[in-house]
Amino acid sequence: MDPGGILLLVTIEGIDGTGKSTLLAALKERLVDLNPVFTREPGATWVGESVRRAIAEQIDPITEATLFVADHAANLATVVRPALAQGKLVISDRYSDSRFAYQSVTLAGVIPDPEEWLRAMHNGWSIVPDKTILLVIPVDDALSRLAGKNGREHFERREILEKVQNRYLEFARAEPSRFVVVDAMLDKDEVTRFVADAIRQVVANGQKHIRK
Ligand code: TYD
Repeated sequence: MDPGGILLLVTIEGIDGTGKSTLLAALKERLVDLNPVFTREPGATWVGESVRRAIAEQIDPITEATLFVADHAANLATVVRPALAQGKLVISDRYSDSRFAYQSVTLAGVIPDPEEWLRAMHNGWSIVPDKTILLVIPVDDALSRLAGKNGREHFERREILEKVQNRYLEFARAEPSRFVVVDAMLDKDEVTRFVADAIRQVVANGQKHIRK
């Protein structure tokens, strides 16, 4: 039921190396007046910890994918649904599109139609975001930004990231009203300003959604 508040869920997506973490830190300051609830996937629960362990140990891709989905369920149950129920703006650093983009690549050749399988796993209980900010960057630039980072994940390879970014761009083409595509090569202050303005606009439009 719609309790009458502004129920807004904004997600931030993009391949590794787009500057998502820097953007999120800047948004926390810039949007402080909106009092948003920030969350992330993989999240802060023990389920999120097990996902990180699975990524580090490179277990089989079906185990990894189902753990990411379990983590999403935990994020919804512990953070997203309670915050939306209080009429709060929720901003999630990665969300279901991360699964649809990354795991449709890691599961290619493992199961027949990974994207359909992943979407079906979310059907009936997940919440579709109101807006999704997609940070886009040439893969070579993403890789050079990641070059100095310790503990790199197994996803952070050219052949994977290229495919993942192409998946994201297809999603944005398929749902142009949900996605806002942002050039992550722009100056970081400019990216922050642009994304903050986009989020403010969504809030100002006061989109109301009836959620089950
Ligand atoms: P994240 O914690 O955002 O990466 P970072 O270490 O840069 O902060 O995510 C960890 C990795 O998990 C990242 O490479 C993206 C990947 N990932 C998936 O493959 N599927 C998912 O559903 C999610 C949420 C993340």
